[in-house]
Amino acid sequence: MKIRPQVVKNTKKSQRSWRVLGIETSCDETAVSILRVQGSAVRVDKNLVSSQIPIHQMYGGVVPEVAARAHVVELIALLDQALGKTYMKRVDAIAVTHGPGLATALRVGLEAARCLAAVSGKPIVGVNHLEGHIASSWLNAANRRQWKFPLLALIVSGGHTELIFIKDFCEYSLIGQTRDDAAGEAFDKSAKLMGLPYPGGPQIARAALNGDSSAFALPRPMLHDGAFDFSFSGLKTAVRQTWEALSIDQREARRADLAASTQQAIVDVLVTKTILAAHQTKVRGVLLVGGVSANRALRERLGEAIKRDLRGVSFLPSDIRYVTDNAAMIAAAGAWHLQRGDAHDWKKMDVDPELDLF
Ligand code: KG4
Ligand code: ZN
Repeated sequence: MKIRPQVVKNTKKSQRSWRVLGIETSCDETAVSILRVQGSAVRVDKNLVSSQIPIHQMYGGVVPEVAARAHVVELIALLDQALGKTYMKRVDAIAVTHGPGLATALRVGLEAARCLAAVSGKPIVGVNHLEGHIASSWLNAANRRQWKFPLLALIVSGGHTELIFIKDFCEYSLIGQTRDDAAGEAFDKSAKLMGLPYPGGPQIARAALNGDSSAFALPRPMLHDGAFDFSFSGLKTAVRQTWEALSIDQREARRADLAASTQQAIVDVLVTKTILAAHQTKVRGVLLVGGVSANRALRERLGEAIKRDLRGVSFLPSDIRYVTDNAAMIAAAGAWHLQRGDAHDWKKMDVDPELDLF
């Protein structure tokens, strides 16, 4: 059932500002945000994120049941902090991640959002987490000014590596994806092999600063196959073999070189395929979003390659503060859908850990 929320009807007269409450609990970040929208202007009023990284570091990765329990405690605190005494009065609509992600973790955010919708009577919309990452680029005002369809998004996170063609707001098709590990997983697993803590991406990036990226010849899987799928599991195996071939004494001294070489291999593949896909699909802008887009080498290399190889194509990376999971991006994608009249009926909403975007 579709409910068209009057509050976001996009007529000239109703260009008053309206606020979307965003809720995100799909993995290991509990996040609540309040996004203010007025015509084409957007402002993030609140962006609260409580990371569970210190908890999951003890296990070397995310444990779903532990994540869900932590979300329960943190979400109530963040909602209280974001909404304050005015409760739901200053919020016009709710956007919540309903998939993909960890089932028990998603459930915490969804049930809280459904409760708020039920007692407040405000419209609610379920948001695809990947669409949230896409919308994170749109939170940047300079990006919004260059937002001309069609666009291409490279989504690189702990669970996803996808090239997505964006025909218009909320209209997507898949260009390519990973056949095994995601780019973030390649970073995380390689870091673990090298004795670096979770999450491995930032650790590899830091170690790589002091390393030589050409020190080890690591594979660039599927680099020149002319297609847009990725594969990172072979790289992980090569990193393991290289690390294990080093003596215990050598490992400490060569860690930076191996980190730099690993990062270079991942970045090479991501940049080459993205440029080829952007060229073939004739897009007008390229989005770089998701946790791995925090990687400075990736941001720089992709930005340079677009400038050099794709005339007239804008580079639209999301701001560093919105690359890892947050609720401002969920509220933004929710606002797109609410403006189209895509609100959901809270009574019928459910989580979908495998939710598709296409
Ligand atoms: O988007 P995100 O917060 O969560 C998912 O939806 O998965 O992405 C988390 C991923 C982790 O794999 C983490 O290692 C990676 O993003 N990451 C990085 C960097 N910062 C975070 N990878 C490479 N370089 C970084 N600087
Ligand atoms: Zn994410």
